[in-house]
Amino acid sequence: MSEKKFKRYLITSALPYANGPVHIGHLAGVYVPSDIYARYQRLKGNDVISVCGSDEHGVPITIKARKEGITPQQVVDRYHNIIKDAFKRLGMSFDIYSRTSSPTHRVTASDFFKKLYDEGKFIEQTSEQYYDEEAKTFLADRYIVGTCPRCQSEGAYGDQCEKCGSTLSPDELINPKSKLSGAVPVKKQTKHWYLPLDKYDPFLREWILEGHKEWKSNVYGQCKSWLDTGLQPRAVSRDLDWGIPVPVEGAEGKVLYVWFDAPIGYISATKDLTPDWEKYWKSEDTKMVHFIGKDNIVFHCIVFPSMLKAHGEYILPENVPANEFLNLEGDKISTSKNWAVWLHEYLDEFPGKEDVLRYVLCANAPETKDNDFTWKDFQARNNNELVAILGNFVNRALVLTKKYYSGAVPACGELTEYDNATIEELSQIKASLESNIESYRFREALKDAMNFARIGNKYLADTEPWKVVKTDPERVKTILNIALQITANITIAIEPFMPFSAEKILKMLNIEKFGWDNLGSMDLLAEGHVIGEPALLFEKIEDDVIDAQLKKLADIKAANAAAAAAEHVTEQKEECTFDEFQKMDIRVSTILEAEKVAKTKKLLKLTVDTGIDKRTIVSGIAEHFTPEELIGRQVLVLVNLAPREMRGIVSQGMILMAEDASGKLELLAPEHKTNNGAIVG
Ligand code: 2FM
Ligand code: ZN
Repeated sequence: MSEKKFKRYLITSALPYANGPVHIGHLAGVYVPSDIYARYQRLKGNDVISVCGSDEHGVPITIKARKEGITPQQVVDRYHNIIKDAFKRLGMSFDIYSRTSSPTHRVTASDFFKKLYDEGKFIEQTSEQYYDEEAKTFLADRYIVGTCPRCQSEGAYGDQCEKCGSTLSPDELINPKSKLSGAVPVKKQTKHWYLPLDKYDPFLREWILEGHKEWKSNVYGQCKSWLDTGLQPRAVSRDLDWGIPVPVEGAEGKVLYVWFDAPIGYISATKDLTPDWEKYWKSEDTKMVHFIGKDNIVFHCIVFPSMLKAHGEYILPENVPANEFLNLEGDKISTSKNWAVWLHEYLDEFPGKEDVLRYVLCANAPETKDNDFTWKDFQARNNNELVAILGNFVNRALVLTKKYYSGAVPACGELTEYDNATIEELSQIKASLESNIESYRFREALKDAMNFARIGNKYLADTEPWKVVKTDPERVKTILNIALQITANITIAIEPFMPFSAEKILKMLNIEKFGWDNLGSMDLLAEGHVIGEPALLFEKIEDDVIDAQLKKLADIKAANAAAAAAEHVTEQKEECTFDEFQKMDIRVSTILEAEKVAKTKKLLKLTVDTGIDKRTIVSGIAEHFTPEELIGRQVLVLVNLAPREMRGIVSQGMILMAEDASGKLELLAPEHKTNNGAIVG
């Protein structure tokens, strides 16, 4: 555990893939926490740089380009700009937002590889890998799909199964197929360079398992499990035509593996930011913190540190506070299924509500377990917390000051015991707030920041200046002075979380931004200082706004279900002649009675009026329909199906039904009520 004092902070945020926009899952997991931390350290007066950028290599980008008939560069240009712009609008305070297709990065990543290569840090190995003979290309990572060997679900990628989260290699896939042509791949020899992670096992054990017991338990636990399973050499090159060329002879057509070049992007971004970049990367006085999501833990805690160790000139991260995942309305967020709240869309649809999103995502951040974002919770937190607690307090303090003193800060007279207790409480919260941020417990920290407003509200409610003003106007001056000092404190406490609101309050108070050390002071506003115009900080979000968002998601769900159904349409059956078809006698019928067949799960015994007669049909639909919902319904019945005995009951016909991709059954019926016995055909 290190209690070391650092001279500067290097804060990195996972470089988002430039193959799609950023969504709330990314924000809650990585970017909101990293921005809170960076803003806090800056407010403390520390030397801080926060770096990020787009991760522009990797197979998903090339797949997207092929699908859209454009170049990978066009794909990354589009998303880099969307992401960069959206981050800025959300108030992300990166000192640089760079990209891995930049010239600086190409040189930095190449040089990094070259140094390790020259020093013999890689293993060079020729092995058999899957090759698509139709597309004439090796199939790395996401270019190959198959059945997951762990959970048996289909569509697992060559590097990962998205269903169960397992890390995979193409060789493990059952029934592998090329994602490009659908062809069954063959094995072909190819040469690659491997980083022998197993050699770094002792270093990693000592550094993480002994030296960083303070890391979050999800991070520490994952590292321990990787180490206990045993590390294997890991390929750092790929046969692809998009990426940074492997900078050695005899490596034509090979590029650096995206997970080799991407983390080096943190170094290139720093180089692009400042000529003084080495002081951040090469000095033990720098505290480097990687903000990432849980799927990135192995790369940031095992692979990249091994690369840094192999290189030898760079520092290691001091902490890697990875978060778990955020779900959306109970389902896993998915870029490919469009199941997400996209940041750029939110910003367009909720102008001026940047802080509401930042607040909700922090209050509900998946810090220790996966969490769920719901629009109802978003609305409740806005209305019951931001409007009712924070907005309400600030508004009351400012409006009363305007009303009683024309906006001039009144003098603070003698303090009562209650005043002192309130001030003491604030200083205790400050300590808790600092400790929570420094330990990456941002949800708790946000509660602390909001407690400044909670205490402010309580203070006004208990001291009742609007009543006391009639009997003891001198006392009211002190009360409002304290309320205003609390308001000024709020601008400091909330700035890391809600910078736009902090800024608005500063403007309303007509003052400049304070440093963190001022938090807790009751002398932030001088007597006589004239405040600006009070305005509402937050506005209530009405039901129709939330309903519109829920409708949008429902539409997406319906579109996905339709697309899935279309994909799962089974092949057409063998041809049948007109005469064969004519042999089937299908009649409109009405279900008269329905009951479960004893000791079976699936069977219902139905009595149907076919127009010809009343007969018994046994149907395997008990798991889909209750007897009650069937009675009285018109259906279509194949009446001349040969009778069959099921559980001792003779079934004389078959109810016709449609089954969708998910296995859901729909009864088929005439659109309007029709006479029983009407012929279908
Ligand atoms: O998981 C991801 O979105 C990756 N693009 C993160 C890369 S982080 C770093 F290594 F660049
Ligand atoms: Zn799986």
